[in-house]
Amino acid sequence: MMCGIIGYVGPRDVSSVLLGGLWRLEYRGYDSSGLALISNGELGIRKVPGKLSELAELIKRSPVTGQIGIGHTRWATHGCPQENNTHPLVDCNEEIALVVNGIIENYLSLKDELEAKGHIFRSLTDSEVIVHLIEEGINKGLSEAVKGMVKKLTGNYAFAVISTKEPDKIIAARHDAPLICSFSKDEAALASDVSGVITIFDEVLDIPNDSIVTLTKGSCSIRDFEATERKILPRKVAVKVKDIDKGDFSHFMLKEIFEQPEVASNIIKERIQDDSVRLGSEINLTDDELKKISRIVIQACGTSWHAGLVGKYLVERFARIHTEVDISSEFRYRDAVLDGDTMVMAISQSGETADTIAGLREAKAKFLKVLSLVNVAHSSIYRESDGTLAIMAGPEIGVASTKAYTAEILNLYLFSLYLGRLRGFVSNEELSKHLSEIKKIPEQVEIILNLDNWIKDIAKNFYNARDFLFLGRGFNYATALEGALKLKEISYIHATGYAAGEMKHGPIALIDEKMPIVCINPKSIVYEKMFSNIQEVVARKGIPISIVTDGDEKTMAVSKYAVQIPDCIEHISPILSVIPLQLLAYHIATLKGLDVDRPRNLAKSVTVE
Ligand code: F6R
Repeated sequence: MMCGIIGYVGPRDVSSVLLGGLWRLEYRGYDSSGLALISNGELGIRKVPGKLSELAELIKRSPVTGQIGIGHTRWATHGCPQENNTHPLVDCNEEIALVVNGIIENYLSLKDELEAKGHIFRSLTDSEVIVHLIEEGINKGLSEAVKGMVKKLTGNYAFAVISTKEPDKIIAARHDAPLICSFSKDEAALASDVSGVITIFDEVLDIPNDSIVTLTKGSCSIRDFEATERKILPRKVAVKVKDIDKGDFSHFMLKEIFEQPEVASNIIKERIQDDSVRLGSEINLTDDELKKISRIVIQACGTSWHAGLVGKYLVERFARIHTEVDISSEFRYRDAVLDGDTMVMAISQSGETADTIAGLREAKAKFLKVLSLVNVAHSSIYRESDGTLAIMAGPEIGVASTKAYTAEILNLYLFSLYLGRLRGFVSNEELSKHLSEIKKIPEQVEIILNLDNWIKDIAKNFYNARDFLFLGRGFNYATALEGALKLKEISYIHATGYAAGEMKHGPIALIDEKMPIVCINPKSIVYEKMFSNIQEVVARKGIPISIVTDGDEKTMAVSKYAVQIPDCIEHISPILSVIPLQLLAYHIATLKGLDVDRPRNLAKSVTVE
């Protein structure tokens, strides 16, 4: 599973602390949730399949108290969202409670062994084996029991467990899934990420991989799987509660779409100085090392992969370095030809995407340098890469990625210019021309956001559509893919993105008078080509909704609807032209009455394969 886990021991109202943390971790998974507290030597468990609000209701009706507890918000993999599969899971004697984020790949063989020993399984989850394995060793104490079983597990996981026999401690362990802990004089907590503990603690410990943690009131001891102590220094939490609050917006997604001018300004302030690009010290590569790169392989998933596609066009255009873009889940298994001067770039908002981490490790196993573009500092990808470039989008909570996408492209643009200048393919004049164009982005994005009502009016005509096609070329081929992904993931309308030149090789057969076709055609070297593609759409009675440069009467004349974006150089156009598509998807989904921040079947952080 890709879930959120939390644990707390201390003097506060434990069920409120756990519930509060789960609200902030909910973006990780939200198809069921639960918590377990120890009270008077017994486990008090409350759990519900469904949204977290239903768990909150249940706790209001039937409160549960105690000084120690664990909680969970789930994204199901093994076993559908129903009560018996909802965490916390318990052992046969109902004395041990467990919450898990991850997947136990060898659970079937472990389950067979445990059932042969008489253990009774209540759920269809893979995780339940953990609680029964702990039960097997519980006579030696909870911590020893965990130590004795972790090596039997294959897969990736972070879990937390409590036992009525030792009601003063939470034991947690992690292998390839995120876990942080915090403690102060008389309390301690753990969570899948900092948002779980942010209202209580301003410092956290990043638990290293393959660790077992013992949390008690006021202490946190970390050991490796061989029981050797690990000393970890706490770090200050940079994220503030207000950063992960919706404020006056109805959804996180809308708030994050509207934050894009500010995000672009922050990146510009940080990365552009005195007419040159500053990559920051975390890149950890010297200019000589960057000069030597003969090939770049970008690997990422979903929206970050789309940003990578734009990155390829930018790097090849400015730095003349051969660049490939792989989907991480393909890259990790395809045994790519990777020679010594190839640099691998991982792109990830969360920094925790399982396939992207695996791709990064594949590259490192072949002794290649990995430079990552990552939004969440101290995440697994941040920590395991040789160097990093911060995306600087700020916390992104909405499941549909918006501001991280445009921030990824802007960073890739600046990175390409830097490489191009270094390698002599970009002159000082050219660099300064691009930088002054880039400085206009925040204002240009504002102008597009002011068209929100118009985009909503367009959405009103299409929220009942069954299918959508998105077409783009050149720098906006990726925009077509991203526009289609945004729409399908939050509105559940089938949408396909295509390179417009490919249309006549198949997808044109789909077009009829009912088909809305988003045609992305800002000013560019492929403008006329794209214009011809729109004519082909019109000739088949499709309904073109075009994204055009301000004042482009020609494309507007053949379109049913058009959204005008400010005049910009084509390298900037993928940043601007995606914004109307984010808003279109948002409005179509909300007009359909859907929960855009919690789309069905999805979770923000994909920590499983
Ligand atoms: C779509 C979306 C996903 C992510 C993908 C990679 O809106 O958010 O497609 O882009 O799961 O996530 P990161 O960038 O966190 O590695």
